[in-house]
Order: sequence, then C-alpha cells, then structure tokens
Amino acid sequence: MKTYEDLAGDGGSNIISQVVSQREKLSARLAKIKHKVALMSGKGGVGKSSITANIAACLVDQGYSVGILDADLNGPCIGNLLGVGCEQKLVIDDDGIDPGEGALGIKIMSMDMLLLSPDAPVMWTDDAEATSTWVSTMESTALRELLADTNWGELDYLLIDMPPGSDRMDNIRDLIPELAGVVEITIPSQLSQYIVSKSITKNNRMGVPIIGLIENMATYVCPHCNQEGKLFEGQDAEKLSSQKGINYIGKIPFDTRISRKTDSGSLFYTENKDSVTGKAIASVVDAIIKFIEDKSN
Ligand SMILES: Nc1ncnc2c1ncn2[C@@H]1O[C@H](COP(=O)(O)OP(=O)(O)O)[C@@H](O)[C@H]1O
Ligand SMILES: [Mg+2]
Repeated sequence: MKTYEDLAGDGGSNIISQVVSQREKLSARLAKIKHKVALMSGKGGVGKSSITANIAACLVDQGYSVGILDADLNGPCIGNLLGVGCEQKLVIDDDGIDPGEGALGIKIMSMDMLLLSPDAPVMWTDDAEATSTWVSTMESTALRELLADTNWGELDYLLIDMPPGSDRMDNIRDLIPELAGVVEITIPSQLSQYIVSKSITKNNRMGVPIIGLIENMATYVCPHCNQEGKLFEGQDAEKLSSQKGINYIGKIPFDTRISRKTDSGSLFYTENKDSVTGKAIASVVDAIIKFIEDKSN
C-alpha cells in the first residue's frame, strides 16, 4: 500500500485548496463577530455553562448581540439552558446553517441541536475498535464545522462554553486566533483550584490572554436572612489569581435559582438582576468588558 510520502503532490485530493477555502470561510464568519471569549476551567461541574448563559443574558441586557458556541461536544447543555433543542429544525441555506435562537434572542450552536432525540447521547462511532486519535479528529472536525458552517451573522460577542479539560484550548486557539481571551472559572474547593491552576498554566504557556478568574459558588446566601456564608473549604481563589498573575474578576454566590429551569425561556440573571448573585454576575461582566475595551485601546 502506498503511503502519503509516495504520492506526488496531494494525490489528486486537492486537499490544500480545500483547507485554504475552509479557513477563508471561517475567517469571513469570524470577521463579523467583534469579540470572542472562551469560558473554561479544566474542571467539570464548576458552573461554566450556567455562568456562560447568565453572562450572555447580562450582555444582552446591556444591549449587546450575543451568540454561544457550545464547545462541550460530549455533554452539550447550552441548548437545554436556553430552551433550544433537537426539536428545533435546522435551517440550511447557501450561507450555512442558521443558529438556534434561544432565550433573549441569544444565538446558539450546539451538538444537542444535531441529535435525533433529547435523550440521545453523542455517539461518534458504533465502531468499538475506533482509536482515541480517530475520535479526537472527529471532534476537532465537528468543532470547526459548528463554528464555520453556522451563519452567526453580525455579533458583538461570541461566548464559547468549553468542555472540561485544558486540551480543547489548542483547537479553539487554532480555529480562532483572534480570541479576545479566556475567562477561567473555579469553585473555592482545593481540588477545583488544583485543576484550574493547570488550565491557567497551559493558557499562559500558549500565550492565550486570560481575562481573569471567576470564583463560582463562592458563598451561600441564606434566602431567609440574606446572610452570606462559605460553601466550600479552600484557600481564597483571589490568592490563586495573584499566584498566577491574572486578574481576579469576582465571586458569584451559590443560588439555587440558577439551576431552576424557567418555562418562559428566561434566565436567572434577567429575572434576578437585583439579587446578590445577579449583581455579582453584572460585576463580572463589567470586568470582562473593561478588559476587552482596555485591550482594544
Ligand atoms: N452559582 C451557582 N449557584 C447554584 N447552582 C449553580 C451555580 N453555578 C452552577 N450551578 C449548578 O451546578 C451544576 C453544574 O453547573 P454547570 O454549569 O453544568 O457546570 P459545568 O458547565 O462547569 O460542568 C448545575 O446543576 C448548575 O445549575
Ligand atoms: Mg458545561
């Protein structure tokens, strides 16, 4: 059997021009989006998706147009949080796929929208022999397609809800070289900070700008007396930010209403702007906007 080295040129596949044209398509899409921000942590379950959705709601409240790319291909949940699922028919025209329209008009693209039924898992292959390299190549391609084939239109912000793990950043960085920055999210626990610290180190090494660190579920506000108390043991996450030389952009308290789904398709932030947690989300959003404005001045 011949190997690639034995082939003259590209073996007739025209692969170089295919790659160039895909890159051009992606750049043209991204050029219409002013700021691209990834939200990540390395750790699962710390609130990346919930915080992404509520940051989006706050940005919309301030008059910005916002989209969210659900980059968590294996555990997509942005669609569920914003009321868009596989029941929404995909509209495909010459300019690509129309994104889903979630609560508050937030544009969404997620693997969830491509599944046949709401409880269908993402299955990359039925082949039990498939290697992890092959599956990872499939995942990379899917991410590129979700980003490049979606007709995002003009947007002020595209938020990228990252999966757990630091390795996907390589992909995103490659796809979106002009990324405005990354928001790291941790909870106060020592274990979460241990993992997030690795993610920060990796982004620093890759030269990915870090907008700052959010400490989610930092405190619990008693619904009866409004007193704030600690929810987890662990060093202050502010210390982690200063050890890593990044901005600490705020604490978001634990609030049971964040996990409550609203039938109206509204989000926690919109309905609870004046709560302690609502105000904390707004303050984090101000810090993100400030970082981006300072960078572009
Ligand atoms: N500040 C918060 N207060 C209360 N519950 C929260 C908060 N942040 C996240 N949650 C809940 O924690 C769980 C994990 O959040 P999720 O956003 O799915 O995390 P991740 O995307 O990091 O895996 C969800 O049930 C979510 O509703
Ligand atoms: Mg998530």
